[in-house]
Amino acid sequence: MSAIIVPDLPRHYPVLLKEIISIISPQYGGTFIDCTFGQGGYSQEILKYQDTKVIALDRDKDSKKKADIISEKFSNRFLFKNKKFSELDKIKLKNESIRGVIFDLGYSYTQIKDPKKGLSFNFMGDLNMCLGINNFSAKEAVNNLETKDLEKIFKFFGEEKEAKRIAKKIGKERQKKEINTQKLVEIIEKTKRKRDRKINSSTKVFQALRIFVNKEISELINGLIAGTKVLKKDGILVVVTFHSLEDKIVKYFFKTLSEHKSISRYLPKLDQPETSFKLAQKKVILPSRKELNENLSSRSAKLRYIIKKDNSYQIKTDIFEKFDHLIQIENLGDKL
Ligand SMILES: C[S@@+](CC[C@H](N)C(=O)[O-])C[C@H]1O[C@@H](n2cnc3c(N)ncnc32)[C@H](O)[C@@H]1O
Repeated sequence: MSAIIVPDLPRHYPVLLKEIISIISPQYGGTFIDCTFGQGGYSQEILKYQDTKVIALDRDKDSKKKADIISEKFSNRFLFKNKKFSELDKIKLKNESIRGVIFDLGYSYTQIKDPKKGLSFNFMGDLNMCLGINNFSAKEAVNNLETKDLEKIFKFFGEEKEAKRIAKKIGKERQKKEINTQKLVEIIEKTKRKRDRKINSSTKVFQALRIFVNKEISELINGLIAGTKVLKKDGILVVVTFHSLEDKIVKYFFKTLSEHKSISRYLPKLDQPETSFKLAQKKVILPSRKELNENLSSRSAKLRYIIKKDNSYQIKTDIFEKFDHLIQIENLGDKL
């Protein structure tokens, strides 16, 4: 699993922007949904092309400030909604023919440097981690969940090998005093026996808590399904992921939509109906050397896209079953 992204820039830098524009080709006009508006890097680039419209979503209400500036300039071509992308198919799209749906997952530099959000141990802030529209914070989770639940979160969402030791230590320490960001970092540093020279000791636990607090697994799965539903024929769904769990989900989802399930290679091919999507490029797209030089944070980015072949609205997928073990862990949050 790749590390939580350590910021290296004074501002947000839209990742793989050139590649995304070349895939969605806004020069031909059309309506695009930017599911992760952030600081508006993608939306603004699309709006440079005259016959385009952008519907942008972000769960963080702080994104609205930037969205308001864009709205003033492009009042009849830009619409922002402070919503989670899992709710995309509930938004009234007024018969818009959607040409592209774009997800740039994770968080922006603006969010990571905000101490109120407490996303990073590099900017010691509240133990919060809420991106927006959440039910509980990381502080509530760390201080109240059973240690066996914390262990699962660290193990499955962070691939933290010393999950059990860390969870146990948290259980002990929180009896003395409520755990805050500083204390959590201290516990991890003191508890871990093995050090990874490439990443900070706290990276995996912080990533795990962020995924848990924001229910990022079910958000992604529901967002992908909603995105594929609203697309019209020839519409493109583009996703940029930043860690291996996200990429695994996107890769599996795209595969199930674009390939028939093989029953057995020894049996004759069955007359199966056409799939509704095609994978134009199987290989993942990575940032260029130039982008890596300009923005080190892009190093864990992976881009995948899929093209819709018809106007169907129903999506057949077993993605919930496939990742049910992760959704069950997210649901531990219902105890809070
Ligand atoms: C990496 S940033 C996007 C940056 C954007 N592409 C740009 O160029 O400015 C990811 C954004 O997605 C938002 N986000 C994350 N999960 C979300 C969700 N489930 N629904 C809506 N927005 C989400 C975050 O709040 C953050 O602003």
